[in-house]
Amino acid sequence: MNLILIGPPGAGKGTQAKRLVAERGMVQLSTGDMLRAARTSGTEMGQRVAAVMERGELVTDEIVIGLIEEQLRGLDASGVIFDGFPRTLSQAEALGTLLSGMGQDVDAVIEMRVDDDALVERITGRFTCGDCGEVYHDRTRPTAKPGVCDVCGSTNLKRRSDDNEDALRRRLMDYYKQTSPLLGYYFAHGKLAGVDAMAEMDTVAAEIAARLEAA
Ligand code: AP5
Repeated sequence: MNLILIGPPGAGKGTQAKRLVAERGMVQLSTGDMLRAARTSGTEMGQRVAAVMERGELVTDEIVIGLIEEQLRGLDASGVIFDGFPRTLSQAEALGTLLSGMGQDVDAVIEMRVDDDALVERITGRFTCGDCGEVYHDRTRPTAKPGVCDVCGSTNLKRRSDDNEDALRRRLMDYYKQTSPLLGYYFAHGKLAGVDAMAEMDTVAAEIAARLEAA
């Protein structure tokens, strides 16, 4: 099962992907996480993408397709969640080609629908565990013990530098301009289903599970 989660920044893609990993043993491929790892590794590519990400703009197709290709190579890709990829039509076409070269296909695409107004609160309240990547929120999902990750016990909790209103506006604009056309693309391929991502996290997870059963 190869699943794509599509939604604007803060829709809950990472949150739900992590649940699918824990509950179904799927593999999460997040281009955002890969790019953040490249940025902190200080490689030439990492330095190139750092400023682009800080501004909330999209990194080039060439770089992200290269990252996905590298991850897919050698991976048993029968249960992959693509989180934040593809984001442009070129990326979608490249993914189709990569998967077909492995005798596979995209099996389901889930659009996570959220009101734009809710995104500012979600993004500005978000923090994550720097060690295991668990995603939290000041109000809707705080840690049980302040300053300590519920999952791995780390105290390395972080906020993202692009989680501010200015960068969010740019990320949202890119989402509507470059990523939302993918909804029509996957609808035409008979793959698209939508979930109400304004609902509680457990309800969203149940809706996604139902869509996967139907796929
Ligand atoms: P990326 O890391 O992919 O960021 P994004 O798509 O903007 O999405 P987010 O991670 O911000 O949100 P999410 O939907 O995962 O929400 P989350 O679960 O965390 O990309 C970052 C940057 O990298 C891009 O701007 C770009 O520069 C670059 N990039 C990445 N991929 C690229 C690509 N393919 N091409 C080009 N450039 C690329 O949830 C958010 C918050 O809400 C959390 O605090 C969470 O606890 C809370 N929450 C979640 N669900 C709910 C709920 N149901 N109710 C209430 N609160 C909830």
